[in-house]
Amino acid sequence: MCGIVGYVGPKDCSEVLVSALTKLEYRGYDSAGIAVFDNGEIKTVKTKGKLKDLEDKLNEVGKPGGNVGIGHTRWATHGEPSDVNSHPHSGARVTIVHNGIIENYIELKEFLVSKGKTFESDTDTEVVTQLLDYKYNGNPLETIDDVMAELKGSFALGIMFKDFPDRVFAVRRESPLIVGVAEGESFIASDVPAILKYTRNYYLLDHDEIATLTKEGVTFVDEHLDPVEKELKTADWDMEAAEKGGYPHFMIKEINEQPEAIKTTIMPRIKDGLPCLEECGITLDKIKDFNNITIVACGTAMHAGMVGKYVIEDLARVPVTVDVASEFRYRNPIIGEGDLVIIISQSGETADSLAAMRLAKQKGAATLAIVNAKGSSIAREADMLIYTLAGPEIAVASTKAYTTQLSVMYLFAFELALAKETVSSAECKRLVSALMKMPEAVQYVIDNCEKKCKYIATKLITADSLLYIGRGLDYALSMEGSLKLKEVSYIHSESYAAGELKHGTISLIEEDMPVIAVATQTDVIPKTVSNIVEVKSRGAKVILVCTDICARELKDDVANYVVEIPHTDELLMPITAAVPLQILAYYTAVNRGNDPDKPRNLAKSVTVE
Ligand code: M6R
Repeated sequence: MCGIVGYVGPKDCSEVLVSALTKLEYRGYDSAGIAVFDNGEIKTVKTKGKLKDLEDKLNEVGKPGGNVGIGHTRWATHGEPSDVNSHPHSGARVTIVHNGIIENYIELKEFLVSKGKTFESDTDTEVVTQLLDYKYNGNPLETIDDVMAELKGSFALGIMFKDFPDRVFAVRRESPLIVGVAEGESFIASDVPAILKYTRNYYLLDHDEIATLTKEGVTFVDEHLDPVEKELKTADWDMEAAEKGGYPHFMIKEINEQPEAIKTTIMPRIKDGLPCLEECGITLDKIKDFNNITIVACGTAMHAGMVGKYVIEDLARVPVTVDVASEFRYRNPIIGEGDLVIIISQSGETADSLAAMRLAKQKGAATLAIVNAKGSSIAREADMLIYTLAGPEIAVASTKAYTTQLSVMYLFAFELALAKETVSSAECKRLVSALMKMPEAVQYVIDNCEKKCKYIATKLITADSLLYIGRGLDYALSMEGSLKLKEVSYIHSESYAAGELKHGTISLIEEDMPVIAVATQTDVIPKTVSNIVEVKSRGAKVILVCTDICARELKDDVANYVVEIPHTDELLMPITAAVPLQILAYYTAVNRGNDPDKPRNLAKSVTVE
């Protein structure tokens, strides 16, 4: 999704903007640009392509030399990636950058055209530029407020008015935006990593608030233009956490960070050997009457929810429905008072998940958010909140966010089972103790499986298509393994419940087609093994991820390659079994020459529908 930055202060603004934009590259983009007040005039340089292309263009045409400006990386929604569709967009008196989607841009455009305005680009953003220009009355705050009242959809905007060369304005509705502050300078950004080089102090802009940035500092007003006092936040991670730290890619760095991330996430939530989620607003009393749970999320987060379903149903005997947020929000779901809706999101800004949560609240359900990004919209609006403490996840492909989401799902399932009295305190303590061993188990898998997975990945690079199979929890995990591989390697891949293959999908199997089977659940291993034999005898090349116990019992030729992981409590196996699947995906992408951190067409934070 688009990235926004802005700067007011003593430094070379062009340099600050480009440097800050590099920290937002992970969001995905196809063009970039900056606009800076240069001797009282707004000078804009923008181009299709990457930041390197922008830097080349800046060298070619000359860097604007001023101290106040805005910058943007664009992820195309309306109009193809091109120089003209790139941001910033300018009217006669105003220049803006935008993240989000203006849903009523067609009717606004028709209105503006009828008033004689002309448009250069195909973007929805230019409509905002022209509307600001049309409504400008000499007072920027009144003008912005007036325009906001006309806009439908989501937006975070950085705005400069020609008449006010000493300031940048910022406003947001739904799309994320923070305001950073340091001595004598201030910043706007779509995400914290963009400002960490300069400051760790920032404000979270609320919906429909307007920030004014000057050298003297930052002021905020609400939609009635009344001043707002805001709480200053401090980022609890630094530049190093947001940098690659010697790894070639963020994805492999984040895979390696999982033991620490899981530990940091679970340890503060365990007391006397039992889960303790009181600080997150969750007590046994509060959750004991939930008899219906729906988990809503997108992509990887939804896959964490699939594991959550198996675990909650197994331990707490409460029925759980898992739904994709984009479907849930439009299907009039049957939920209401007394039900619990769990929303899982790394970014906390995913548009569909946020809308799903609001719908759940509207219908009277209680909401619990499991979120990684502090202070994000979903985190702020949920009734109960458990943060995954994974630190910044920069690679588009989620890895440590997934395993920390799983860890939180386990803690919650244990707590619910206690509340429902479906497990004893002693059994719960045993489960918690097993969970506490997971950081070590994950570290073991990283240390012992990376080499083998790297080798197996060399066998996948020429594949056109793959299948992931498993049963029960292994099936839930296969979904995530398959998504990981396809999103970074661009090889078509599907996950299937192993027992479902022979109802159609097995006809796809042909000579040398890779099938990745996950078998960690002892009770269904013989069944999965039968399915493996079925595909292998039809020519599939089978890669089996299984426990050491399972590997010992299997015949040597059951699979072409076996990745053994240590046997832990079986309910917790998805945490360790996820790791080889992540590593396989990573090396397959690298072997195919792809950048696993920024897969084509994808964005880290999907803030539009
Ligand atoms: O920020 P969220 O967790 O809400 O994002 C949801 C999905 O877009 C995300 O999990 C996506 O599927 C992963 N980045 C894929 O690795």
